[in-house]
Amino acid sequence: MKKIALLGHGVVGSGVMEILTKNQKLLARQAGEPVEAAWVLDRRAFPGLPYSQRFTQDFSLIREDPEVAVVLEALGGVEPAFTWVREALLAGKSVVTSNKELVAEKGAELLALAQEKGVHFLFEASVGGGIPILQPLRESLTANHITEIAGILNGTTNYILTKMFQEGAAFGDALREAQELGYAEADPTADVEGHDACRKICILASIAFGSHFYPKEVPTQGITRISPEDVAYAAQWGGTVKLIGRVRRAPDGRAALEVSPMLVPGDCLLSGVSGVFNAIQVTGDMVGTTLFYGPGAGKLPTASAMVGDLLPALTQPAGSRPLPWGPARPELPQPWEEHAAQAFLRVAGMEPDALETFFPGARFLEPLAAGEAAFITAPATQGEVDAALEAAGAAGGKLLSRITVLEGSR
Ligand code: HSE
Repeated sequence: MKKIALLGHGVVGSGVMEILTKNQKLLARQAGEPVEAAWVLDRRAFPGLPYSQRFTQDFSLIREDPEVAVVLEALGGVEPAFTWVREALLAGKSVVTSNKELVAEKGAELLALAQEKGVHFLFEASVGGGIPILQPLRESLTANHITEIAGILNGTTNYILTKMFQEGAAFGDALREAQELGYAEADPTADVEGHDACRKICILASIAFGSHFYPKEVPTQGITRISPEDVAYAAQWGGTVKLIGRVRRAPDGRAALEVSPMLVPGDCLLSGVSGVFNAIQVTGDMVGTTLFYGPGAGKLPTASAMVGDLLPALTQPAGSRPLPWGPARPELPQPWEEHAAQAFLRVAGMEPDALETFFPGARFLEPLAAGEAAFITAPATQGEVDAALEAAGAAGGKLLSRITVLEGSR
């Protein structure tokens, strides 16, 4: 019998217990013996479950139990998760987590500790829900310099955008549904303001570049300012609007990270990704562009990724090929002003002829309302777009919308 402990019996944690129960025989076959959750830690009591008697609120019982080889952490948030994960690793137990906030803030430190203690620290479930993305990135694509990762990384906001702009739902109703379906964070501000997608692109970038990127350094904008007018212009242009997390390798080797709504062309596979689904486009200098697609949030998909990590943690020796993820290098992030960018702009109070003097090479769309102009800039940097907007503003132009174009690189 292989014994594990689970921290957190919320949406994802209860999904882990469901998989351990329903697919018990399959897992036993793969692990070589039955796998059982000896402890489930949660502040709440869950009477009436076949495993109700295994609940505890005392982490020290788990830490001190010599039979527990792996701790699965599905609490979310940095504390107390960080303290307990650290203690579990120090006690020589492997850890599997779905906690993107924890990994984005403390990944380098916890990986180093796991390496020192000769145990696993695995977190496939922290990005893209049930989509296998970290394992391919750290194994199958290692022959490449990763030049770009661009993804729909948050199921809640993709669900909301789909409901609003394909089905005409109101923002509040769509968010409520996403919460009821167990997609949203405990505080859904993290979803709608882009913080959750930001944590995920930081994890992907840290693996791709081999050093830690902190969410607070990443320019991040959510979906709350996207209007039906923006989506209508996007359709006229031949695409749609999606919340995208992106990292690109600049020609000088620095990393340009950002999270924002982007105009996605219709011929890009990301434009067809609807509802809670996520998709992550990874481009390598040798392989070209690859796409990983699947359910990006929810109980069983996320739990599936956690249990997927549990098996190697139970059966394989740790540390033979450590993940190259070192401490942050301050010189690596490229400042936002220098990011290559092409922008969709909507400006009131100025005619196209006048705007063209500030934005040479702009491609104008058919205006959908009197008194405004909508256009796609020529390739530039975000700083150049800022400067042109400031000059146009001084000449009477009023900015209504600014959305980066996904394909925009110089
Ligand atoms: N709130 C997250 C999302 C959960 O909507 O994508 C999965 O990480």
